[in-house]
Amino acid sequence: MKDSAYSIKKGKILSTKQMTENEKLFEIALEGGERLDHEPGQFVMVSVFGAGEIPISVSSSPTNNGSFDICVRAAGKVTNALHKLEAGDVIGIRGPYGKGFPLRMLEGNDLLIIACGLGLAPLRSLVKYVFDNRRDFGNVHILFGCRSPGNMLFLDEIKDWKKRKDVYFECTVDCGTPDWAGHVGLITTLIPGVQFEPERTFVALVGPPAVYMPVIKELLSRNVPERHILISLERHMKCGVGRCGHCQIQNLYCCRDGPVFNYEEIKHLKEAF
Ligand SMILES: Cc1cc2nc3c(=O)[nH]c(=O)nc-3n(C[C@H](O)[C@H](O)[C@H](O)COP(=O)(O)OP(=O)(O)OC[C@H]3O[C@@H](n4cnc5c(N)ncnc54)[C@H](O)[C@@H]3O)c2cc1C
Ligand code: FES
Repeated sequence: MKDSAYSIKKGKILSTKQMTENEKLFEIALEGGERLDHEPGQFVMVSVFGAGEIPISVSSSPTNNGSFDICVRAAGKVTNALHKLEAGDVIGIRGPYGKGFPLRMLEGNDLLIIACGLGLAPLRSLVKYVFDNRRDFGNVHILFGCRSPGNMLFLDEIKDWKKRKDVYFECTVDCGTPDWAGHVGLITTLIPGVQFEPERTFVALVGPPAVYMPVIKELLSRNVPERHILISLERHMKCGVGRCGHCQIQNLYCCRDGPVFNYEEIKHLKEAF
């Protein structure tokens, strides 16, 4: 019997865009015009035929019609093979999988979205969803940090986010360059500049594991409740649907119970950080 959890759909690459030296954006349409129907924060399993299958976050909003985006860093075998593909090529897609950001819970509240480096890939999905449903959310603050100006993802879009009157946006780089006039410093240095009411603010935080504890410490010192801090965890994944155990952290399967967790539910798991 065919197991539908593993059924692969064909996805046609509609366009690609080199974003930085190592990251490329792919716009994909499922065969037959099928909608992906994902939530921000969910991921898909992407197969590059002949190379393998990997988990990748969906980077576009569910409000997009007809296609979705993934933003991929060339890291190894499969991602490098994916980078060689262009518009017209076909890949395999399973999913969407996992628990994303709890939109119904976020609605009516203020948001503090904190993205570090490639963490902006899944958070762009949330940001775009919020912009498309702006009246459903209170104050929105977005903080973005990356290593250097050359590593900045979605540069054109960020320029527009900065101009919006209904959003507070600030970005920083760890190392500036002579032509960089913006903030220099770790992402934590941006948090004191944000005015927010902790009780009505939910934080969506995605980045490399090393930034999580310093950022969480800063948020807790500002009295943000632990269950308001939403974090996406990355683990090696094989099945993506809670069956193989590859992504297990104690009693949790990252692919099925996450990848988005609230801090209160995972703070006792040392391996999570
Ligand atoms: C839920 C989830 C969402 C993800 N979203 C994105 C995304 O939007 N964009 C993106 O570029 N990448 C994303 N990743 C990471 C991506 O899956 C890995 O980079 C990819 O699997 C590497 O495969 P590879 O064959 O190219 O590299 P490999 O040759 O397998 O490995 C290259 C290097 O990457 C490390 N690596 C492999 N898999 C992972 C992993 N799952 N987590 C952390 N490090 C890993 C390896 O340890 C090794 O150092 C996501 C991972 C998860 C679990
Ligand atoms: S990837 Fe198989 S259980 Fe999570």
